[in-house]
Amino acid sequence: MLNDNPLLSARGVGMKYGALTALSDVSIDFFPGEVHAVVGENGAGKSTLMRVLSAEEPATSGQVLWNGKPITLSSPKEAKKRGIGVVHQHFQLVNTLTVIENLAMGAYPTRGMGWVKFLDRKKMRESALRHLALFDLESKADMLVGDLTVAERQMVEIIRALQGDSRVVIFDEPTASLGAEEAERLFAVMARMREEGICIILIAHNLDEVLAISDRITILRNGQKIDTVSSSDVCRDELVGLIMGRRLAEGYPSCQTPADEKVLTASGVITTAAGTQENLSLHKGEIVGVPTYIGAQVNDLLDSLVGARRVPRMSLSLKGKDLSNARQEVRIGHGIGVVPGDALHDALIPNMTIEENIMLSMSGQLTSCGVIRRKKAREVALRMIEELGIRPADPTARVDRLSGGNRQKVVVGKWVAAGASVMLLDDPTKAVDVGAKVDIFRLIHKAAQDGAAILFVSSEIEELVGMSHRILVLHQGELRKAFVSRPFDKQTILAEVVGGRAPVRNNLQ
Ligand SMILES: Nc1ncnc2c1ncn2[C@@H]1O[C@H](COP(=O)(O)OP(=O)(O)OP(=O)(O)O)[C@@H](O)[C@H]1O
Ligand SMILES: [Mg+2]
Repeated sequence: MLNDNPLLSARGVGMKYGALTALSDVSIDFFPGEVHAVVGENGAGKSTLMRVLSAEEPATSGQVLWNGKPITLSSPKEAKKRGIGVVHQHFQLVNTLTVIENLAMGAYPTRGMGWVKFLDRKKMRESALRHLALFDLESKADMLVGDLTVAERQMVEIIRALQGDSRVVIFDEPTASLGAEEAERLFAVMARMREEGICIILIAHNLDEVLAISDRITILRNGQKIDTVSSSDVCRDELVGLIMGRRLAEGYPSCQTPADEKVLTASGVITTAAGTQENLSLHKGEIVGVPTYIGAQVNDLLDSLVGARRVPRMSLSLKGKDLSNARQEVRIGHGIGVVPGDALHDALIPNMTIEENIMLSMSGQLTSCGVIRRKKAREVALRMIEELGIRPADPTARVDRLSGGNRQKVVVGKWVAAGASVMLLDDPTKAVDVGAKVDIFRLIHKAAQDGAAILFVSSEIEELVGMSHRILVLHQGELRKAFVSRPFDKQTILAEVVGGRAPVRNNLQ
């Protein structure tokens, strides 16, 4: 492979945003037929580098080479024409259009001659269905993207980048919202693409996945390239060391026994396979883990609890107060905090600052006689930034300018700051790096210690085993098995999750 010439290269690429240096003198060669992973902590500059390579943003210094020659591409559309496709970290789909329409966007097949061109709907459909079939998604072709699950939307985003004649495909954290089976399918597609000589650039935080799927790995830290290594030459610990510049010292925080007091009780939201109703109770200080994977339908449970989904005959009580018929805003107002799958759009106001977003969630505590206590708000924001290691450490930074993982930290932090009595966490660490994970675990643990009851949904069994007091395995919204006391055996839980068949993703750990 490396005897070939590089297809795409970064040469001395630098990027400055005002005083902040997001990238500095980065040079990397990407070869045809390789899966090249780019790893680094949140804010290391990974997405910025990808934006430069795909012509979304011009670098402030350095060059991009295509087949060894400098090129200047003026837009992602031009990059796509040249053969560089991108799967973005944050969805760029139009929710009000169907899957097929989204897939055709920007690349409408036309028929006709000369000036008169028609949209070739038949061709559009055929091409889309062919790609959807790779992911078993044909049946969703005519659904509105807004009605898909986060995982399905992610797959549509991936399919969009695969279309056309891409010779380089950049994936920015593609598995973050995928379940194990979907991730497995994506890796199979990647392997096939590699065989066809396509260069895959993969940004990912799950190092086991990175080691299993990639040929080479480039490590970025603070906007600088630390090294490019062959995946067969490094082990996980070495990689963590290269990423962080220090070894990961801490694991999961120690788990304290929760109190007997029930904070939340819900009935009518979980049934057992036998058809009986199962009451769900969350106790003070308790962390209840729920694995999420395709087919688990954990989202329905979360939506029902927060009130985004109406369930007939459901009852919900929070600290003895009946909220069965309360709307979502009322439930949130009573102290149910949610960290949703798409943090930026569902949980933050993108064009507001870190501080303003925190203030919104705790408005009651930060006003006195209707006047906002700015000084207090600043204090709370600074404490949270410090505790969670949010970068940049600036309360006045806009949240849509933060890197993906840092946004996730702001969402978790804002509910902790608000002192929510119940926290529903939907895969809160899925887009965060190994160091930030520890910060978030510590914060969740602290919230529990302070008396919050936590429903902790995660796609990583290992996290659930490390953090939870109880683990509930759901399948199609039904309770398949409850593991009621620590310690938990990862393999036993995995077996329940996959019904006896271990998914690739977890075999790798
Ligand atoms: N448009 C922007 N304006 C100002 N600063 C920005 C902008 N985009 C990125 N940054 C900053 O540049 C740095 C690198 O961000 P980037 O998004 O590339 O990180 P990342 O490695 O992709 O992180 P993550 O793993 O969290 O997605 C961060 O400090 C970020 O806050
Ligand atoms: Mg990123």
